Amino acid sequence: MTVQIDHALEEIRRFRPSPEFAAQAVADARLYEEAAADRLGFWAEQARDLLTWSTPFTQTLDWSNPPFAKWFHDGELNVAYNCLDRHVEAGLGDRVALHFEGEPGDSRAITYAELTAEVKRAANALLALGVAAGDRVAIYLPMIPEAVVAMLACARIGAVHSVVFGGFSSKSLQARIDDAQAEVVITADGGYRKGRAFPLKPTVDEAIEAAETTVRSVLVVNRTGEDVAWTEGRDVWWADQLAAVDAEHEAQGFNAEQPLFILYTSGTTGNPKGILHTSGGYLTQAAFTHKNVFDLHPERDVYWCTADVGWITGHSYVVYGPLANGATQVLYEGTPDTPHPGRWWEIIEKYQVSILYTAPTAIRSFMKQGRDVVHGFNVRSLRLLGSVGEPINPEAWIWYRHVIGGGSIPVVDTWWQTETGAIMISALPGITDLKPGSAQVAIPGISIDIVDDDGTPIEGEGGGLLTITEPWPSMLRGIWGDPERFKETYWEKFGDRYFAGDGARRDEDGDIWLLGRVDDVMNVSGHRLSTAEIESSLVAHPWTAEAAVVGASDETTGQAVVAFVILKTSQADQVTDVVAASDELRRHVALQIGAIARPRQVFIVNELPKTRSGKIMRRLLRDLAEGREIGDTTTLADTSIMQIISEQVK
Ligand code: PRX
Repeated sequence: MTVQIDHALEEIRRFRPSPEFAAQAVADARLYEEAAADRLGFWAEQARDLLTWSTPFTQTLDWSNPPFAKWFHDGELNVAYNCLDRHVEAGLGDRVALHFEGEPGDSRAITYAELTAEVKRAANALLALGVAAGDRVAIYLPMIPEAVVAMLACARIGAVHSVVFGGFSSKSLQARIDDAQAEVVITADGGYRKGRAFPLKPTVDEAIEAAETTVRSVLVVNRTGEDVAWTEGRDVWWADQLAAVDAEHEAQGFNAEQPLFILYTSGTTGNPKGILHTSGGYLTQAAFTHKNVFDLHPERDVYWCTADVGWITGHSYVVYGPLANGATQVLYEGTPDTPHPGRWWEIIEKYQVSILYTAPTAIRSFMKQGRDVVHGFNVRSLRLLGSVGEPINPEAWIWYRHVIGGGSIPVVDTWWQTETGAIMISALPGITDLKPGSAQVAIPGISIDIVDDDGTPIEGEGGGLLTITEPWPSMLRGIWGDPERFKETYWEKFGDRYFAGDGARRDEDGDIWLLGRVDDVMNVSGHRLSTAEIESSLVAHPWTAEAAVVGASDETTGQAVVAFVILKTSQADQVTDVVAASDELRRHVALQIGAIARPRQVFIVNELPKTRSGKIMRRLLRDLAEGREIGDTTTLADTSIMQIISEQVK
């Protein structure tokens, strides 16, 4: 069967890098040539240039047992040393590593020297609790500096961290503790979110109670000062434990393939998968992409990635990439709209943030509020913007560049996954002509191909399935405890190439457009339509703030397009007749894309169902559109949303 995803949404805007930006850009067009001439040599050079090895490697890639890759595997390094000590040794100890901003407004600047000292103590604290190299440690913390310290302390002693997002339930935490058999948990009494202290420790207690694994120690950071229940002999205050141990800790080199972390991500079916990443290759690609995609000038930039450390973006672009590169960054604990809707812009003004990396869902919610909120602050320090997590609608891209970026700075849309560990597809600022809505090109040293269902590369401009044809340094090394599932999920479909699960197409310039997960592709009267394109068309209408599209079964057309739309706050009052509004939006899509894409229904709603990482759960909207009972809502950030939407749709 041939998979062809039709597309008709033409995006013709192009943005050349400004000569001033290009003149100072970190990335050099020669990177593409070097990688094309000798891919493995290119990565070996990056690994040597960007990292410090205690034992140099001699072999770059061992692919003798696919799909189990080994990169730089006869070399040794210490990941924490690379993120900390070596910067201090190079005389950069006084540089701020983290500008921490707590939600209640408390703030703290932590230099590389201070962060190194803290991680050394935390490493000794873990050793004192009997944690050895290879042991798994669960981390369940808010976005506070101790989260970064805890991760690096594990890395420093060769222990494997499993960070569980602080918004997950005790059941999710318990499942992750058990799957990885984590015997030590690092948590806090609580954290701050939406203007309130929320407890974490009780959730940990509940998870441990229910777990099969015996957790012997719980290290508890004092963040909110709320009362917590205490299990003597098991629970230890973080501050007490760190004060009790030696301040000195010498980092030892570990094999490049030493497991660094497990991070759980949900698949389409079954339990969450424990994605395993290792050390040398992961850090190489995280550092390389962080430097080149974000045009990092560590001596002058202030970088801010808004992701929580509970997600892969927080691992690679809050902790490992930026710290390996000696960057100064902002770490913010709370939500964007607490205590006021301009909090992010206030933070950017306060720290003079120059590089911002965030997600389309956040950008669209700011679009919904309107530009006045942003214009209340001076955000002119920004000189580069990044996007990740889902396709960015061209209108959202333009808004981001114009309203946040002042109309002239680069926006890079970065495609990657928990599994890929680091950015795989992105423009390089200063080099690539930017196209709103397209993630554009594979980064140097990465081989991407779009194929049909049989694995035949699609010639020309057709849409198909995104695959990665060659192993890459930061690739997942497996699914924790389940090698079969690793093979089945990613490699069985095509045998010799990695199947990403995303639809994509190339345009006439060879730029890549992501079309959403393959399970989000609709088939309307035999035409494959991507949810992402129709959503972008809807968002391009002046009334729309956000849109989610699903394919609902339809007697005549197989599937029909059903859209759920949130109107902009500024329009909501004017659009009083929802029937007329939905007709107008249907007409708009038909005009923009073609009659085939005209939604059967457009429902005007106030909210969309989202996971805690901000992904729209289209599955639930499909249930609603098809009149079925709504499926499992436990991974929603707010589980009452579907009830509200159902009522609005009625
Ligand atoms: O569907 C793609 C989408 O997010 C998926 C990976 O999700 P996760 O593992 O949670 O990692 C998110 C952060 C890297 C992908 O399979 N995705 C991510 N970035 C983009 C994207 N889709 C389109 N454009 C992107 N820039």
